[in-house]
Parts: sequence; structure tokens; C-alpha cells
Amino acid sequence: MSILIMNGPNLNFLGIREPGIYGNENYGGLCEQIEKKAGELGIEVDIFQSNHEGDLIDRIQAAYSDGTEGIIINPGALTHYSYALRDALSSINIPKIELHISNVHQREEFRQKSVTAPVCDGQIVGLGLFGYDLALEAIQKIVEKSK
Ligand code: DQA
Repeated sequence: MSILIMNGPNLNFLGIREPGIYGNENYGGLCEQIEKKAGELGIEVDIFQSNHEGDLIDRIQAAYSDGTEGIIINPGALTHYSYALRDALSSINIPKIELHISNVHQREEFRQKSVTAPVCDGQIVGLGLFGYDLALEAIQKIVEKSK
């Protein structure tokens, strides 16, 4: 099973940005955690991070024809306003899970709206980096079920 994990703007700054909200682990540590969990589950993962909306859209479009069977995406702040990212996600018909490290519902009002969640199968919010492990387990089940 081949899963694409996408992280949007500023997620490469994990461990540096607002540690009180996002924790002290850095992005490299998150990638290691994802690889470890994927290995345990027997899933192949491609981990992609970009600070640029267009690069994220290009990677989603590439997933249409590169054998990707599911997407886990933390779109960062693009979650709250990027209709272009939403359109890209909705244009490919594979399972998708949106993920947020922080509990966006406890934060500023602008974070409480997601324009991307309605085109995803489900959402994991506020469970820290552990959410990525849960998302991998969930997407594996969803993809298997959809076969
Ligand atoms: C985030 C929440 C967003 O509101 C924020 O802009 C991020 C990270 C999260 O993982 O909690 O960059 O997606």
C-alpha cells in the first residue's frame, strides 16, 4: 500500500515554532516516527512538505497517476482559506485524511473553519504528533475497505 503524507507551510519548522502549541520534536523526528509506524503497518510512505501552495497542488496531481492509494494531509494555515488546495484534493478519488497537530477548535476563530475537510474522508485534530500514527492506521483500513 502506497500512502502520501503531505505537510504544508511552516510544518518544517516543528520544534522551532510555538513549542507550547506544537511541541519540541522537530520535523526530522516526525518523519522518523512516520517511517517507523509505516514500517510496522507494512505501508510504503512518501513524505512531502512544502511551504508553497502550488507545489502541494502539483504533488496531489502527481498522486493521480503515480500509484498513490491514500493521502494524509496537514495543510497548515492553507486549511483555512485555500480553495485551490481543496479543488486539487477533491479532483482525485482516493481516500484522504486531514490532520492537525493542535486542537484548532481551542484556538483563534479563523482556525475553526476548514475549507479542505469537506473533501476528505475524515479529520484528526489535537492529538499532537501521535495523530500521524492514528492517521496511518485509519487510512490503511479505509484503503483496504475500498478495494
Ligand atoms: C496546524 C493548524 C493550523 O491552523 C496552522 O496554521 C498550522 C498547523 C496544526 O497542525 O495544528 O500551520 O495545521
